[in-house]
Amino acid sequence: MRTRASQIRTLALILVGFIPFPGELLSLRNAADHDSLLIGTAVRAAQLSEIRYAASLSREFNMVESEDAMKWWIVRPNQGTFDFRQGDEVVRFAQAHGMKVRGHCLLWARDNPEWLAQGHFTPAQLSLLLRDHIAHVMKHYAGQVFAWDVVNEALDENGDVRDSIWYDRPGIGFAGKGTRYIEQAFRWAREADPQALLFYNEAEGEELNRKSDAIYDMVRDFKRRGVPIDGVGLQLHVSKLNLDVAGLQANIARIAALGVQVHITELDVSIPLSLEGNPVNKDDLIRQAQIYRSVVRACLQSSGCTAIQTWGFTDKHSWVGSSSHGARGMALPLDRAYQPKPAYGAILEELSAGRNHKR
Ligand code: XIL
Repeated sequence: MRTRASQIRTLALILVGFIPFPGELLSLRNAADHDSLLIGTAVRAAQLSEIRYAASLSREFNMVESEDAMKWWIVRPNQGTFDFRQGDEVVRFAQAHGMKVRGHCLLWARDNPEWLAQGHFTPAQLSLLLRDHIAHVMKHYAGQVFAWDVVNEALDENGDVRDSIWYDRPGIGFAGKGTRYIEQAFRWAREADPQALLFYNEAEGEELNRKSDAIYDMVRDFKRRGVPIDGVGLQLHVSKLNLDVAGLQANIARIAALGVQVHITELDVSIPLSLEGNPVNKDDLIRQAQIYRSVVRACLQSSGCTAIQTWGFTDKHSWVGSSSHGARGMALPLDRAYQPKPAYGAILEELSAGRNHKR
């Protein structure tokens, strides 16, 4: 096995351009394995047949998550049907390449099928539907999916519980009762697969702000009362090219101090693009790399931060382009041709330096 010092030497030579990028020798995955850290990415089942996609994926990552394949709108095309084909494909790929699988997600206000969102169900019906869905999906993937985002994005920017079909429109029976419906989902999830780690996953609550305070308070309350929760997923879709790194570190540390794990779950760092699809500012790829570096370092600094996952890995396939209507993009560590960007080098360097930051 290559020593850390020799890895860093080789990396330095690659970064200054003396030797070409040696895919097989150095990878994010190899570097993360040293610290038993999970380095993952969101994947699209349809892309697994693309040779370069599959090759980069299995070389660079030891964990995957379905970008969409395990969401309600794909798993539940209609009320009576469970369709696990895409999710199963992702699991098969992971198993063939010795990768772990994160599950995403069992309850979210968005990405629900029409029949559910517009179905005008009563709270009692919704409660049954949700309980049954959690049980069915988790049992199907028991032993294959090691951790689930049980609840996704349930809070708004003020830290209040968001309106949703599950909470209060009409909800599963706990409308107006704050986080009680979230608690119920976690209890059902533990019942369905006692081995799986159960995560609350959230956006824009990564730094210290009202939302992250609310997440913290909820998890502290759950832990005190024995509500089954094992971790918090910090999404980290970064779209401003500035990140309060100290705030992120402090937030990771306080969550970990509650005795739950932290996973960075959806990291991407988008930059403004011109109409032709080029970076508007020439330094942005470097600033982007700096943010990736800070996030990896912040995670490595807390032993409770056990996984870092990017939301895709190549600019060829990323949700940012469509969600920003082309105004932003180039958010991921590999470019459209699967070549490493400065961000890739930064992540690799930090992972190689490891938890104790050996250099
Ligand atoms: C996004 C996917 O990337 C898209 O393919 C899909 O069309 C919409 O959802 N937060 C989440 C993810 O938790 O599920 C979202 O994924 C991105 C924001």
